[in-house]
Amino acid sequence: MVSNLPIFIFILLLLFPDKSTPSAAVDFHFEDCRQPMTCGDNQTIQYPFYIQNRQQSFCGYPGFQLKCHQNGHPILNLAGRDFSVRSISYEEHSLRLSDHAVSSAAECSSLIRNLSVLANERFSLGDGQDRICDGEESRDEAERNGLIVEWTAGECKFCNKSGGYCGFDESTHFFKCYCPDRPHAFHCTPPG
Ligand SMILES: *[C@@H]1O[C@H](CO)[C@@H](O)[C@H](O)[C@H]1NC(C)=O
Ligand SMILES: *[C@@H]1O[C@H](CO)[C@@H](O)[C@H](O)[C@H]1NC(C)=O
Ligand SMILES: *[C@@H]1O[C@H](CO)[C@@H](O)[C@H](O)[C@H]1NC(C)=O
Repeated sequence: MVSNLPIFIFILLLLFPDKSTPSAAVDFHFEDCRQPMTCGDNQTIQYPFYIQNRQQSFCGYPGFQLKCHQNGHPILNLAGRDFSVRSISYEEHSLRLSDHAVSSAAECSSLIRNLSVLANERFSLGDGQDRICDGEESRDEAERNGLIVEWTAGECKFCNKSGGYCGFDESTHFFKCYCPDRPHAFHCTPPG
């Protein structure tokens, strides 16, 4: 159903080319946030993340902007430091970050200290991550598996199920559900 929506809209546009016809006007937020992207490594970048300068900031949450490294990995800036994003779990609201600093005992504790007092309270270290610097073995493991960071953002499930794309309105500081007709508060209005 969801994948047929663009075709459906395209047909609507063909049938009603006159832009003044209300049914032909697809809201621009919906259009802009429709395409998930990748930095090149094929990880799907979608709400609440977005790629700076390639996707509109209203398609994601503030602080969730990613840059693309030339090696194809997305880069997330936390505590003033660029981390390479190894994987994103949209179900578990968590990501695995790489940073060579975890391999050095001194840098590791400084890094974990910095990440424990994040200015952006939407991100937090995963359970047990504050103990990775305790020994060489746990540091090695953290370097192999990445540092687990969890995030908090408006739940997208209901919007997504109703055929919308999630985003954030920076002027009102509220979650938005972008639907073909207009942005809604939580989900698109069911037809009929
Ligand atoms: C990404 O996917 C494309 C198309 O499926 C494939 O050709 C390419 O090798 C993949 N790149 C990586 C880095 O996995
Ligand atoms: C932690 O933050 C301090 C102060 O901003 C900075 O000097 C230091 O380099 C940071 N440590 C790491 C490992 O990024
Ligand atoms: C929305 O649902 C589709 C289909 O289930 C899924 O592929 C996509 O990742 C979801 N998007 C978001 C932002 O959760």
